[in-house]
Amino acid sequence: MSLSGSRIEVMRHIEKFVDEKLDKFLRPVDVNWQPSDFLPDSQSPSFLDEIKNIQERARELSYDFWAVLIGDTITEEALPTYESWLMSMEGVNQGDAGGWSKWIRGWTAEENRHGDLLNKFLYLSGMVNMKEVEISTQYLIADGFDIQTGVDPYKNFVYTSFQELATNISHRRVADLAKKQDNPQLAKLCSTIAADEARHAFAYKSFVSQIFKVDPSEMMLAFEDMMKKKIVMPAHYLREMGMDMGKTYSHFSDAAQRLGVYTSKDYVEIMQSLLKDWKIEHITGLNAAGEKARDYLMLLPDRLTRVADRLKIPQLEYRFRWIGM
Ligand SMILES: [Fe+2]
Ligand SMILES: [Fe+2]
Repeated sequence: MSLSGSRIEVMRHIEKFVDEKLDKFLRPVDVNWQPSDFLPDSQSPSFLDEIKNIQERARELSYDFWAVLIGDTITEEALPTYESWLMSMEGVNQGDAGGWSKWIRGWTAEENRHGDLLNKFLYLSGMVNMKEVEISTQYLIADGFDIQTGVDPYKNFVYTSFQELATNISHRRVADLAKKQDNPQLAKLCSTIAADEARHAFAYKSFVSQIFKVDPSEMMLAFEDMMKKKIVMPAHYLREMGMDMGKTYSHFSDAAQRLGVYTSKDYVEIMQSLLKDWKIEHITGLNAAGEKARDYLMLLPDRLTRVADRLKIPQLEYRFRWIGM
């Protein structure tokens, strides 16, 4: 079947698949985890002791670790930007109760717990200047982002597939580091968020797979276009008080590279896993432009690996306004 007419037609066609699979892509609210499952209960008599324990353990974590955890938190807290961006995609209509708007709302509702949980943890840790973090969060939402997808759903789903895999990796690595620092509570919290990201990646990747079935050439071109532009992080405009837009982002990214939480090697590995999951090598029915795009994509991981090998990670520790140590 070929639907290479318009994006809207394809989106309408796939909407039924999304609707039917929603219970695989999302967990029912009543049984889903909530931030309070991982934090001290303020109604409990042991509340203050538990906070003391969190704060003692928090002091064992490094400066870079806090920079990454805070940057991750702010990224998660800028969720309003992501929801409104996705709602504006071609083929999505907020006003109807179709699979697409249900998915975007359900996804937003799950993601909202991530920022909520991390924010509360930062607050309890005693290591963080919360007002500075809140200022960065407000800036980031006000500044928005430009992920270079426009309203094209194909490009957006490449982006979100990539991003959910990237956040899965980074939350998982933060969890590993916390575990090594003998902080099982923080490890559990981050690995629980990471598991959500993996399930969301599965959903977004399956949307792309569905599009490949009906509009392979256009999907291939969209994938190529996104990889040529490079996937930017959702917090690429991150800044602190009194700074220009985007000024803090590279310091956050440097800290993540130093810790090995998210590196340029991970970028290449995500790319490779997408080529494999979407069976790019075996897609049939491509036109000439689609074939050319495929050739470009298949060669990209090797090229990116050579670039990644040459990259040097800045060793300079930047002093963030967020961290009180
Ligand atoms: Fe998240
Ligand atoms: Fe996510």
